[in-house]
Amino acid sequence: MGLKRSSSSLFLSFLVALFLVLSNSAVVCNAGETSSFVRREAKSVDMPLHSDVFQPPSGYNAPQQVHITLGDQEGSAMIVSWVTMDEPGSSEVVYWKEDESSVKKYAHGKHKSYKFHDYTSGYIHHCTIRKLEHDTKYYYEVGIGHTVRRFVFTTPPPVGPDVPYTFGMIGDLGQTFDSNITLTHYEKNPRKPQALLFAGDLSYADNYPNHDQHRWDTWGRFVERSVAYQPWIWCAGNHELDFVPEIVTIFPIHVVVYNSFRKE
Ligand SMILES: [Fe+2]
Repeated sequence: MGLKRSSSSLFLSFLVALFLVLSNSAVVCNAGETSSFVRREAKSVDMPLHSDVFQPPSGYNAPQQVHITLGDQEGSAMIVSWVTMDEPGSSEVVYWKEDESSVKKYAHGKHKSYKFHDYTSGYIHHCTIRKLEHDTKYYYEVGIGHTVRRFVFTTPPPVGPDVPYTFGMIGDLGQTFDSNITLTHYEKNPRKPQALLFAGDLSYADNYPNHDQHRWDTWGRFVERSVAYQPWIWCAGNHELDFVPEIVTIFPIHVVVYNSFRKE
């Protein structure tokens, strides 16, 4: 009996504590109104290769699949990644603060490529920009010659207990017609998320015969319109594992790494 009363009061205390936590977090974490958007239930099909969202930028060796993610835990570094298809080109990023366009800085990165079955990747560049100021808008450029491409991002505010910062969240995106609707919906959100938490399962290239890696390239070009401008923070899902014992003999072959949706 005593034990039961003690359990009941413990449970009551737990409920009170939970209420306090939730009511407090409701004040601290006000996400505003959520959307009424619901994806249709019908099975979706992948967008064909000639879709506009998959087209590479024009120009010889133009950087494509440009994407950024946070480069440290304080928000003062950003990793810029991109792919060049014709030749390595440059792994350098030029960047500057919005209000100091005359003070350009340079960060040097590296490139690599990989083979998978009958696929050979382009040149995959990673470059970390460090010592960035918080809450600051930066422009950055990748590429050389006639195919320089310019983007912009804003660094997060300094770390603190009650710092306002809005995250979006997407998982299982893929590259279907509904994927495009989902990404457009995210972009149009009036709350304007400043970074995105990606809950795994990116391209679904593994749905194709021999895990057709070209579908990683199409996916990279598809999401560039968002991830080149705000950091996406990655988590690997089961679709990132290229487990194909019929064509490769070493496992695991690849998993997505924290700083890139390209495999390394
Ligand atoms: Fe999934």
